[in-house]
Amino acid sequence: MTLFLDSSDPAEIRELFSWGCLSGVTTNPLIIAKEAGNVVLKDRIVEVLAVSTGDVSVELTTETLNEMVDEAHEYLAWDPKRIVIKVPFSETGMKVLHTLAERKVKTNVTCLMAFNQAYLAALAGATYVSIFSGRVQDMGYDVRPVISATRKVIDQERLPARIIVGSMRHLMDVNEALEAGAHIPTITPSILRKMVWNPRTESTIREFNEAWRERGK
Ligand code: E4P
Repeated sequence: MTLFLDSSDPAEIRELFSWGCLSGVTTNPLIIAKEAGNVVLKDRIVEVLAVSTGDVSVELTTETLNEMVDEAHEYLAWDPKRIVIKVPFSETGMKVLHTLAERKVKTNVTCLMAFNQAYLAALAGATYVSIFSGRVQDMGYDVRPVISATRKVIDQERLPARIIVGSMRHLMDVNEALEAGAHIPTITPSILRKMVWNPRTESTIREFNEAWRERGK
């Protein structure tokens, strides 16, 4: 089981990787635009690489086959072992995925809302398929069958793809994604902190430490 952080904030990434439970980072254009305005993408990703370990997903923003493949190779040059190319799913995205998979480039096929999409991406050789929990639920659908059907076919057909579930809105989305068969939840710093917090844990630790301070009095 693996957990990724969905962020491009170097300070948060450095802090949260020090907990020892994270093994990769996912970014997207919206996250970077929100967190860093008009930062130079390469500068931001190089900072992210410096404060994390494992795979770092960087998303393509062009929309034609040749542009997307060129963009992928530009990103790969920043760290060929750790950069994963996030390919937005579409007919063109399938061609980009196939081209990159044949070149043994790691890919994360993103913006997936349905089983059929994830299945196609997995068949075409995606390293990761990213199912968007919150956005599926925003449309009024249950995301769990999407995750479990994808996991079932990946296991049955022994496909190498790993299921990332992102677009998490609540802590329970993480638990449900794991129960449904996600290999890797990718979560925001705020959700990761919620996974730590429990009022009964805090009051118990307080009680123990107070008893220790007061011992023998
Ligand atoms: C996943 O890889 C995406 O970066 C992300 O989780 C999308 O989340 P959103 O629906 O909050 O934009």
